[in-house]
Amino acid sequence: MNLVLLGAPGSGKGTQAEILARNFSLRPVSVGDILREEVKKNSSLGQEVNVYMQKGVLVPDEIIGKVIELYLDRSKGFVLDGFPRNLAQAKMLGDILTDLNKRLTAVIYFDISREKIIERLSGRRICKKCGAIYHIKNMPPQKEGMCDRCGGELVRRSDDNEETINKRWEVFWQLSAPLIDYYKDKGLLLTVDASKEKEAVFDEIAAKIKEYDKDKVA
Ligand code: AP5
Repeated sequence: MNLVLLGAPGSGKGTQAEILARNFSLRPVSVGDILREEVKKNSSLGQEVNVYMQKGVLVPDEIIGKVIELYLDRSKGFVLDGFPRNLAQAKMLGDILTDLNKRLTAVIYFDISREKIIERLSGRRICKKCGAIYHIKNMPPQKEGMCDRCGGELVRRSDDNEETINKRWEVFWQLSAPLIDYYKDKGLLLTVDASKEKEAVFDEIAAKIKEYDKDKVA
């Protein structure tokens, strides 16, 4: 099974990517996490992409294309979080999948209001060491400020400030939202109510995948 998660910043894509990967034995590919890892290493790629990420705008397609090719392989189904983000990237993904002799099973669209997004992103904390995602109210760690998984320090993401959140929201509606119709026209779009609790969102995704045209679930 090969899935794409599509949704505004903070809609819960990263949270669900991890659960879907675990439950369906998929390879999670989060472009945001891959880029943040490069920034952390201070590699030349990291330095280049950080400029865009801090502004909340998209990193150029050529860079993203190279990154994606490195992370998708033939061996395992995948769940893609944060790619594609515009029509050019969607076409790029189509070409890569053709080369790999793979096809998309479904695109999950996370439907959610702006108010919820603000509430989620202002309370989000991530582990500095392993990238695990928390929320100070909705999904708090057992011990404040410390990752349950690895004991790492929990921090706010540097792009989770009001100005950058607003920009990312704007960029989503301007550049990524056209993908909703693009994948609807291809018969691949499954919309879920992303404002529900984490477990309920997963249940809805799993149920929709199950009831979906079985021939497409490869
Ligand atoms: P990226 O890291 O992908 O950020 P994003 O799309 O803005 O999405 P987020 O990671 O902010 O949110 P999410 O939907 O994963 O929500 P989460 O699960 O964390 O991209 C960052 C930047 O990288 C971009 O701005 C761009 O510059 C660049 N980039 C990335 N991909 C690119 C591409 N393809 N092309 C060009 N540039 C690219 O949840 C949010 C919070 O809510 C958490 O605190 C979580 O605990 C909580 N939460 C989650 N689900 C629930 C729930 N059901 N109920 C209650 N709380 C919940």
